[in-house]
Amino acid sequence: MALLQDRVAVVTGSGRGIGREFALCLAREGAKVVVNDVGASLSGESTEERPAVEVCKDIEAAGGTAVPNFDSVSEFEGAQRIVQTALDNFGKLDILVNNAGIIRDKTLVKMDEADFDAVLGVHLKGTFNCTRHAAPVMREAGYGRIINITSSAGLRGNFGQTNYGAAKAGIMGMTFVWALELGRYGITVNAMAPAGATRMTANLYEKADYEPPATLDPALNAPLVAYLASEQAAHVNGQVLGRTDYAFTLFQTPRQIAWMWKDGGWDPSGVAQHFDATLGQHLQPVGMVMPKGLDQKK
Ligand SMILES: NC(=O)c1ccc[n+]([C@@H]2O[C@H](COP(=O)([O-])OP(=O)(O)OC[C@H]3O[C@@H](n4cnc5c(N)ncnc54)[C@H](O)[C@@H]3O)[C@@H](O)[C@H]2O)c1
Repeated sequence: MALLQDRVAVVTGSGRGIGREFALCLAREGAKVVVNDVGASLSGESTEERPAVEVCKDIEAAGGTAVPNFDSVSEFEGAQRIVQTALDNFGKLDILVNNAGIIRDKTLVKMDEADFDAVLGVHLKGTFNCTRHAAPVMREAGYGRIINITSSAGLRGNFGQTNYGAAKAGIMGMTFVWALELGRYGITVNAMAPAGATRMTANLYEKADYEPPATLDPALNAPLVAYLASEQAAHVNGQVLGRTDYAFTLFQTPRQIAWMWKDGGWDPSGVAQHFDATLGQHLQPVGMVMPKGLDQKK
């Protein structure tokens, strides 16, 4: 039995890469899909491309149902039209996958304001925009599934990704807030950090002269998202999940792991004296774990 029979889904940025695989998989599981993609270049400039149309053709060729939408998630009114496309064509909206993304990687001292704003605009604000318009529709129906696409770059940090890391960490934060706020209405909100050899990661692989292995097939992410989008995952809310090789993974929610206590509170020299023997025993590494093989090439 298909997991998503008669459900209606919006997948943003699903004209290419990982999002395309989400759209194809959700459609195979029975969902009718709005394939949103503005057809942007990797860094967010507009192009003449319309990849959403091709993905809809692929879905229909496989016996599924899909309509394209070309609005930008980073525009508030555009996000409203994305949600409206689902309502106009399929009468409801059950599933939202916030996947659209761009990158403008630079170290902090080379990153200008426009690079920061553009990346935050698509990932962070785009996720807010689409969810802001989808949530009232789902609340009214008493049912919804929202999956926000995050990244280890935001959860653990990555060199050269101030803008992207900030956006992806912010998406984790919004996921926790929305899980609390929307959980009461039968809506679950989870985050997933996927992995895949797409144009977004191509530069990394080319630089390292690295042939991506089969484990970086972007299609490998979609089964977890299809499950999270299903009725069966009603009890999974506010979680951050991921994928490494052939494993789906669960991230630990940030929480305190060590304490230094002094009745009445500390003064600075007291902290300096006791830090290494207390909190300093538990300092944690930062930085994301690179795919197998690429870690040694760096
Ligand atoms: N590839 C990876 O290894 C990896 C790892 C972690 C997270 N991610 C995340 O997965 C998601 C998909 O990335 P990908 O690797 O498939 O990249 P991709 O570049 O192949 O696909 C992203 C798609 O989003 C579209 N898009 C960009 N701006 C848009 C906008 N304003 N409105 C609508 N659509 C827009 C693009 O046109 C493109 O088709 C992103 O959120 C990315 O941050 C990817």
